[in-house]
Amino acid sequence: MSITIKTAQDIEGMRVACRLASEVLDYIAPHIKPGITTNEIDRLAAECMVQQGTISATVGYQPPGYPPYPKSLCTSVNNVVCHGIPNDKPLKKGDIVNVDVTVITKEGWYGDNSRMYLIGETSIAAKRLCAVTFDAMWHGIVQVKPGAHLGDIGHAIQKFAEGLGFSIVREFCGHGIGQRFHEEPQVLHYGKPGTLDELKPGMVFTIEPMINAGRREVKDHGNDGWTIVTKDHSLSAQWEHTVLVTETGYEVMTLSAGSPPLPSFVTSTKT
Ligand code: MF3
Ligand code: CO
Ligand code: CO
Repeated sequence: MSITIKTAQDIEGMRVACRLASEVLDYIAPHIKPGITTNEIDRLAAECMVQQGTISATVGYQPPGYPPYPKSLCTSVNNVVCHGIPNDKPLKKGDIVNVDVTVITKEGWYGDNSRMYLIGETSIAAKRLCAVTFDAMWHGIVQVKPGAHLGDIGHAIQKFAEGLGFSIVREFCGHGIGQRFHEEPQVLHYGKPGTLDELKPGMVFTIEPMINAGRREVKDHGNDGWTIVTKDHSLSAQWEHTVLVTETGYEVMTLSAGSPPLPSFVTSTKT
């Protein structure tokens, strides 16, 4: 398989799926406070998807070598890097949590996005990690245009985050997306300018850097087949958008009323 090029009609389908995925994050946002459990967040998201007429891409998702994923979304708290499984433990003041939602529309299109949420007042270090990771994602997004290369995206993210003393997780990457959850290409969050595939109008992929406050190494949590944690127990953050390569630049597709404001160095969600 190679990188699919979406038609104008495909892009319409992706716009709907991506907006709905973002609206699930809007729907749960007001509830994410000290005391809520990640299972309650999962239930709220499942309820929202029923109202939308979408289904979760993660329930029952089973790549080779993994057990079926049991929940409607991923909730990765503090030192959890990604793929955290919702449970009955309440979130507490000072926690940070990534909520990662992927929906499938009736027409079969996937929209994938995630945001960080701060639980009550957090440490300055936690706030800074979340803010730097958000900006790092956007430094990657603004590289996207026809003729640029995937390595330009990874390089921009790496230079920014490592320049501020943070580290980039290497084991997981962004991915092409469309009528399948994960398709080509892999979108690394580190790299060298001018390397890897050249971007062409109609490509759609995610940019979803995982950035650690400490060392970059990760390990399996061990008992559920999914949860990934930092090896040194340091905090980890992640943000994710699904992005279209347009004729002239990029279009961020996973946007809705509750999307956070753009970083100061970004002028538009679409160029
Ligand atoms: N949404 C994640 C991604 O960004 C994948 C989650 S797979 C799951 O690619 F099975 F862990 F939910
Ligand atoms: Co995701
Ligand atoms: Co993704």
